[in-house]
Amino acid sequence: MTTVSNRHLHRHILILSLLLTFSILLTFSLNKTSYLRNHRRHTTNPVRTFCNYSDGKWIYDHSIPHPRYNASSCKEIYKGWNCLGNGKSNAVDVFKWRWKPNHCVLPEFNPVSFLNAYRDTSIGFVGDSLNRNMFISFFCTLKQVSGEVKKWRPAGADRGFTFLKYNLTVAYHRTNLLVRYGRWSENDNDGKLTNLGYKEGYRIDVDIPESTWAEAPTFHDILIFNTGHWWCAPSKFNPAKSPMLFFEKDLPVVPPISPDAGFDLVLKNMISYVEARKRPGSVLLFRTQSPRHFEGGDWDTGGSCMRQRPLMRKQVEELFSLENNGTNMEAQYVNVHLHKAVKGTSFSSLDITSMSEFRADAHPSNTGGKKHDDCMHWCLPGITDIWNDLFIAKLEYVKSFQLVS
Ligand SMILES: *[C@@H]1O[C@H](CO)[C@@H](O)[C@H](O)[C@H]1NC(C)=O
Ligand SMILES: *[C@@H]1O[C@H](CO)[C@@H](O)[C@H](O)[C@H]1NC(C)=O
Ligand SMILES: *[C@@H]1O[C@H](CO)[C@@H](O)[C@H](O)[C@H]1NC(C)=O
Ligand SMILES: *[C@@H]1O[C@H](CO)[C@@H](O)[C@H](O)[C@H]1NC(C)=O
Repeated sequence: MTTVSNRHLHRHILILSLLLTFSILLTFSLNKTSYLRNHRRHTTNPVRTFCNYSDGKWIYDHSIPHPRYNASSCKEIYKGWNCLGNGKSNAVDVFKWRWKPNHCVLPEFNPVSFLNAYRDTSIGFVGDSLNRNMFISFFCTLKQVSGEVKKWRPAGADRGFTFLKYNLTVAYHRTNLLVRYGRWSENDNDGKLTNLGYKEGYRIDVDIPESTWAEAPTFHDILIFNTGHWWCAPSKFNPAKSPMLFFEKDLPVVPPISPDAGFDLVLKNMISYVEARKRPGSVLLFRTQSPRHFEGGDWDTGGSCMRQRPLMRKQVEELFSLENNGTNMEAQYVNVHLHKAVKGTSFSSLDITSMSEFRADAHPSNTGGKKHDDCMHWCLPGITDIWNDLFIAKLEYVKSFQLVS
């Protein structure tokens, strides 16, 4: 008796689970078909398993003979970042270090398959010069395999290019704080601030995007944002002589708020601004802060970065410790604000900070052609090539979820 009902039960479970599997497969394939029909594109290699790409190490790879691009094939490389051309002594080693995550593989950016997979797509890098550094690496890698480009300024961009054979557009939108800002003085007739004793400063509108990228969310399908260094620039936004004065809805915020609180408001408002305007099926990424490697002082007090190899883990801890006078602490500071802001939104973060902290060897240093050493931007070719590997891995990961939801 028991055996018979058990057998019945088993058969029922079997039929039920077959039906369930079938309906899941059906939903998946229906969604997938409509996605492909709507978007006319496919992902190169959907990766659905989570990997912590920040957890890894740098390995010197002798088998990398050439950089991904060079200054003669790509004029877009800014001259201060052309470490090979400027004769930085370790420039040929800089691009031979490969990032190896401990628990997975980070595939190298394949420009040919990328161009094929992302036809009719537009990609915008929005942010400060560090995002321009990443944009140049991205553009030059594609340019190496497809030379026919139209140079133009899509949607208010500082610069942009369309790869004509693929109708793939890549653009860079320059913005320091994301929002609009400008000089303010007591003559500007804001009684409230003048009454509080302010004479000069910078007016920062927490709810108005800078015009350089205001159109970007409706134009691009994929957006990579950053902001950071300018929130930590006391030489410009001097708390005593030229403080940040925040405005909202065209009125000064009183009592005045700290730069910390202003930064949070800006991130919150700009993230909502983008979310309200984004294109259907778009991918939104926020890149975490790029670390600096000044040693023995800050950028304007004789700091330098003469190292020839990536740092060891212990050296990273020393260089970025609070005791080291805070020279390089801004990365952690910015990231705390960023992580808080993107949580629960449709943005994903692109975590490049910890992998980059090791790379004290990869800045232009004293070959940047400036009065002071450049230990903030990166040599090209160099580490931003790896950021783009990570960008593409992240893009495929995010897209693999869009396919089924
Ligand atoms: C990823 O790895 C980094 C470096 O080891 C670590 O700091 C971070 O907490 C990890 N993140 C997650 C989500 O596990
Ligand atoms: C630069 O790239 C071009 C195109 O791939 C190649 O022909 C040339 O040899 C490279 N030059 C150097 C100096 O590596
Ligand atoms: C080129 O790509 C854009 C998206 O970036 C799209 O809006 C446009 O229709 C495409 N043009 C053609 C001719 O397919
Ligand atoms: C930190 O600053 C103090 C005082 O300005 C100075 O004496 C010290 O050498 C600095 N330490 C480092 C590690 O730069």
